[in-house]
This record gives sequence, C-alpha cells and structure tokens, in this order.
Amino acid sequence: MRYDGQVAVITGAAGGIGGATAHLLAERGATVVLADLNGDGARDQAAKIGPSAWAAGCDTTDPDQVDGLFDTVVDRYGRIDLVFANAGWGSVGSVLDTSFDDWRRAFDVNVHGTFLTARAAAVRMVRHGTPGSIVVTSSTGAVVPTAMMAAYCSAKASLNMLVAVMAYELGAHDIRVNAVLPGVVSTPMTQAILAAGAEDHVLSNVPLGRLGVPADVARTVCYLLSDEAAYVTGTALVVDGGGAIPGAGWYTNDFRRRGATTWRLQRSRGAR
Ligand SMILES: NC(=O)c1ccc[n+]([C@@H]2O[C@H](COP(=O)([O-])OP(=O)(O)OC[C@H]3O[C@@H](n4cnc5c(N)ncnc54)[C@H](O)[C@@H]3O)[C@@H](O)[C@H]2O)c1
Repeated sequence: MRYDGQVAVITGAAGGIGGATAHLLAERGATVVLADLNGDGARDQAAKIGPSAWAAGCDTTDPDQVDGLFDTVVDRYGRIDLVFANAGWGSVGSVLDTSFDDWRRAFDVNVHGTFLTARAAAVRMVRHGTPGSIVVTSSTGAVVPTAMMAAYCSAKASLNMLVAVMAYELGAHDIRVNAVLPGVVSTPMTQAILAAGAEDHVLSNVPLGRLGVPADVARTVCYLLSDEAAYVTGTALVVDGGGAIPGAGWYTNDFRRRGATTWRLQRSRGAR
C-alpha cells in the first residue's frame, strides 16, 4: 500500500492512534497534516516524521477552526485525498453520576467534531472533483454496551450511523467513508484505567490474548484509506483481538490445551 502524491489529514494526531497512523501513512509516501487540540504535541509528532509532515493546532469542535484547517491544507498542498477523523474524548462514570458537562463534551468532541471534520473534507473533495477516502474512529463501545461509559458509547454509536449515511450519499462522488472500531488499545486515553487494574479483565476477554497497540489500529486505517479497499464503504470494522465477539456461551476452558477437560462455567454476574 503506497500513498505517494496523496495528502492526508489526521485529527487527534498528537495521541496514540492518530500519531501511529500519521507515521505509517508518511512511511508509505503520503504527505501528512497532523491536527490536534494539543498543537505542541502534533508539532512534536510532525518533527519526528520529517519534511513530509506539517502540524497545526485545531479544536475540532469549533467549525471555524476546522474549516480554517482544511482551507489551509488546500492552499498549501492543492488537494486532500485521505482523512482520518480520529480526535476523541471520554470519561468514566455511572449514568447516575454523569454530569451534563461530561455528557455534552463526549458529544462535542466525538460527534460534532467528527461531523465537522468529515464534512469539511467531503465538501472540498466534491468541490475539487477528487475521489477520496475518509475513516472515522468509533469504538467497540458503539456496539457493545460498556457500563460506566454511557456518554462515550452513545456518542460513538451515533458515529456509526453518520458513517453509513455519509457513505451512501458520497458514493456518487467516489468518496468512501468507513469507521474503525478499536477495542482496548494502550494509549494515553486508557493509561489510567489500565493502571487501575482493568488490564487483567480486558485480557481475559480478548481471544488473541493481548491488549491492542496503536499500530494495530493504524494498519487497519491505512487499509481502509487505501485503494486496497476501493470497493469498501459504509463499514464499521472492529479491531479488538476478538474482544467484542458476542455471547461465547456458558462454558469456558484453557483453549491453548487440546483435549483439556478442565471446562468450567463462565463467571456469573457478580462473581469475583
Ligand atoms: N485507546 C482506546 O482503547 C480506544 C478504543 C476505542 C476508540 N478509541 C478512540 O480512538 C481515538 C484516538 O484515541 P487514543 O486512544 O489515541 O487517545 P489519545 O488520548 O492518545 O488521543 C486522543 C487525541 O485527541 C485529541 N483531542 C481531544 N479533543 C480534541 C479536540 N476537540 N480537537 C482536536 N483534538 C482533540 C487529544 O488532544 C489527543 O491527542 C479517539 O477517538 C478514541 O475515542 C480509543
């Protein structure tokens, strides 16, 4: 997969998944624009990539900043081919304890920011008559209810529908739109929860037996952005080591051993 001559915009690019994706796209020949609320972090990442990268501070919840970013990219490079709308935000808390500020922030960053980014990109692709590919970062939380994360899951679920409708409308312009749904990936966003002991629980539910790393998601995003996925649009692609496979039944075992007879019932709710 090569992206020579193509221009890619990545939001949330100062973070784990966005940064890894920017690096991979640049390695494979793309010119990359790294945008983030944390402008210094984005500039640090761009400096590590080298001259094919440029960075800008941008709050994706602000329509003027998003439009300004995309206008600047067109002025500098004359085109936009690939967009990874990836900036995200989440908080943890039961529904009873979720403040309206947290609820609203989850929708501002994950839904409104992603909509503004994807729309700004699509408007310019259509205006210039260029085909394009847009990938949006959703989450397995969009399809598997995750207690203590109602706002985040609800916001990410709405992105899956945005992607489907955008893909339907933009197909006529040769613009593909897809979502990537990471499971638990080790990044600054999950550091605190993992450090608090969530890692063991996560690992016991991931058939591939490890946490995700940013490169796992970056490789999938690069596939969806590339011509290898030329006939793929409107999908929600899960990248989670199998963690979201639903209802694996009543029984479990040590599946690394053949012929094991140590099967046991799955842990019941409330068991420790
Ligand atoms: N890490 C995981 O386990 C996981 C799982 C599923 C989905 N995701 C999603 O992946 C995406 C990337 O997250 P990450 O894990 O790399 O976390 P991260 O915290 O490393 O990166 C998120 C980045 O988004 C930026 N950001 C936040 N609000 C912004 C705004 N308003 N405007 C511009 N940038 C903003 C942050 O500054 C940060 O650099 C997010 O959308 C997140 O919801 C992460």
